[in-house]
Amino acid sequence: MQESCPWWMSGILYQIYPRSFQDSNGDGVGDLRGVIQRLPYLVELGVDALWLSPIFPSPMEDFGYDISDYTGIDPLFGSLDDFDALVAAAHELGLKVILDLVPNHTSEQHPWFIESRSSKTNPKRDWYIWRDPSGEGGPPNNWLSEFGGSSWEFDAVTGQYYYHAFRRSQPDLNWRNPEVRRAIHNVMRFWLRRGVDGFRVDVMWHLIKDELLRDNPPNLDYVPGQQPYQQLIPSYSTDRPEVHAVVAELRQVIEECDDRVLIGEIYLSPEKLVAYYGRDLAGAHLPFNFALISTPWNARAVAKLIDDYEAALPPGAWPNWVLGNHDRQRIASRIGGDQARVAAMLLLTLRGTPTLYYGDEIGMPQVDIQPDQVRDPWEKNLPGLGVGRDGCRTPMQWDSTPQAGFSATEPWLPLSRNFASENVMTQRQDAACMLSLYRALIALRRARPELALGTYKPLGATESLLVFAREHHDRRSLVALNFGREPVSFETNSSRGRILLSTVMDR
Ligand code: NOJ
Repeated sequence: MQESCPWWMSGILYQIYPRSFQDSNGDGVGDLRGVIQRLPYLVELGVDALWLSPIFPSPMEDFGYDISDYTGIDPLFGSLDDFDALVAAAHELGLKVILDLVPNHTSEQHPWFIESRSSKTNPKRDWYIWRDPSGEGGPPNNWLSEFGGSSWEFDAVTGQYYYHAFRRSQPDLNWRNPEVRRAIHNVMRFWLRRGVDGFRVDVMWHLIKDELLRDNPPNLDYVPGQQPYQQLIPSYSTDRPEVHAVVAELRQVIEECDDRVLIGEIYLSPEKLVAYYGRDLAGAHLPFNFALISTPWNARAVAKLIDDYEAALPPGAWPNWVLGNHDRQRIASRIGGDQARVAAMLLLTLRGTPTLYYGDEIGMPQVDIQPDQVRDPWEKNLPGLGVGRDGCRTPMQWDSTPQAGFSATEPWLPLSRNFASENVMTQRQDAACMLSLYRALIALRRARPELALGTYKPLGATESLLVFAREHHDRRSLVALNFGREPVSFETNSSRGRILLSTVMDR
């Protein structure tokens, strides 16, 4: 792209779940050397940046989202030398590297928490959220853990409860404490100096909690059978007004270096989400917009979502779109293979930075996980509710060899049944397959400034047809997407033009 804009605006991001991308040492779990081996594939695909889910030392009870050392690499993934080699190799190939920053909570095995829990007078006591039991002797308030049960854990050593938004082995840091803020800022600086190009910040909207720890109100729309967490509206435990000052500080650290990006993981409605751009856009560059993952898959609903999101964006804020990640059902299984092609075209023609989830570009399905194969702590806590995330975290399907080219041994999660026919190797040879479509879409987006940077102009939607234009200076691309099973016709009053790309491709 000739025009000068930050790389993360015109660029395409690609999420790697490191456990499942490429195993280089035959232990069945992916690692950093494996990622290095596969960098040329990312270049071939045409993406600009890779985001690595956590690679830091961890007891792995939440597969790395429970960190016991923020400035190391878990031996399962390699070493700091391997990490440096990865950054150097990626940069050499023109790829940016984004790390996962998990500042809301640590592992209970983090030295900070070990100190904090040791006594009420320990200097790190206030680094976490400790409270006396309530008057009746139970937890301090009614807040629930996202993973089920109370979010308060009683600690017999000091007779107080600590707060954990997720597993009880993931105590929340106290972001009201300036020492905690400084410590995490220094973690960011550590990685920025090692050359990382930005961070995806885990559960950004959870970072700060109500100072008075007021009870969350009941959710009157709760239906039994839903996740227990949804029984309450988390209005006091998440998305507090004070969070924006915290995010602005993270951004200031990012601004200490040139050209870095701050991305926030935030599950909120578009109206609330956009506040995370911050006052004067001094917050996250890209508060992740996950709305496509939860919106019903029909043209009218998606058109409304795009309009609502575009309307909610503050002036100058740059949008972004996501179809899947390591916490949500795979798009190909959610809406079916044919529609996953339409979704690919939508993702790569909308205004805003697209993030691809590894494997979606070859149409990887949600894999059925048998009860004895479950690894996800959320599923283990709440079996039967459909919260399991293992099915979207299965090994990347590289080729048709016994372990799909992912590993020399049995992988930590099962491969999908279709791996022998649907993999990078087979799809490279098939001009009509999902990988070819993704590559063509990415190439088109890179070649046409209106697709990467142009305005979004809605041109109408029915139940099955969504039509919009992207315009930039004198260039215009028209996008028409059929969300239905039947062919639909569409007339344009423009007499000029040609078909650039169709989701139905010739073999
Ligand atoms: C959000 C992450 O995406 C998810 O995988 C993790 O379990 C929770 N945060 C807790 O860290």
